[in-house]
Amino acid sequence: MSDEIRQRKKDSYKIFDEIASTYDFLNHTLSLGIDIYWRNKLLRHIPDMESINALDLATGTGDVPLTLVKDQRIKKITGLDLSKGMVDIGIKKVNKQGLDKKIFLMIGDGVNIPAADETFDLTTISFGIRNFSDPQKSLHDIHRVLKKDGRLMIMEFAIPNNKIIKALYFFYFRYFLPKIGNLVSKHKDAYTYLNKSVEDFPYGQDFLQLMKNAGFVNLEYKPLTFGIAMLYIGDKKNRL
Ligand SMILES: C[S@@+](CC[C@H](N)C(=O)[O-])C[C@H]1O[C@@H](n2cnc3c(N)ncnc32)[C@H](O)[C@@H]1O
Repeated sequence: MSDEIRQRKKDSYKIFDEIASTYDFLNHTLSLGIDIYWRNKLLRHIPDMESINALDLATGTGDVPLTLVKDQRIKKITGLDLSKGMVDIGIKKVNKQGLDKKIFLMIGDGVNIPAADETFDLTTISFGIRNFSDPQKSLHDIHRVLKKDGRLMIMEFAIPNNKIIKALYFFYFRYFLPKIGNLVSKHKDAYTYLNKSVEDFPYGQDFLQLMKNAGFVNLEYKPLTFGIAMLYIGDKKNRL
């Protein structure tokens, strides 16, 4: 990992503070709405439990909690993010939908999770772990805060296998998206960093290996939209 990327990761939440006001608009526009469809995929893999206490790391403006809450079994969701700007917008969205008794968004680090051992039934991260200073340490800490039957679901960008899709994808990520993203967010290079961070990050089996190192089992990944993104799933212990 280059020094530039390492420093960017450490400070990424500060960039999110600067682009928070345009984040949702750009997210949904630049992904052509696919990001909403991807987050809905999480609902299909919620563990088979009657009552679920969930944790969403790198929660940003709260789109994952606002998706998970559609499943009635989810009784409480805590969302943590280091960017106050993103969390503040998320809290407004939660309040507007009257979900403030179920969804609790706050400042918190996904690498050093401020929670006791075996607290949560489900932990999610969507498009966040790539920005963490130490993804492996985060995975160990998630394992610690999950209950014995707990599940981890992570959604992250990947690089498609198909040559034509890959060429289009690189064109979009390297040239089109940085120009439009930087222009609309009025940030000099926030969206330039996006493609660098994606191309630098392990995906597929390589990412599952990080989950395995942290002790997760029943590991699988599901490619989303030609493998542009992946949904990774792992359990704390083997299900009988
Ligand atoms: C691309 S956004 C994803 C937000 C949201 N999960 C979504 O799907 O829209 C990445 C988020 O990760 C947060 N972040 C970066 N490092 C973090 C850390 N160590 N702990 C918690 N959040 C972090 C950033 O502040 C930012 O809000």
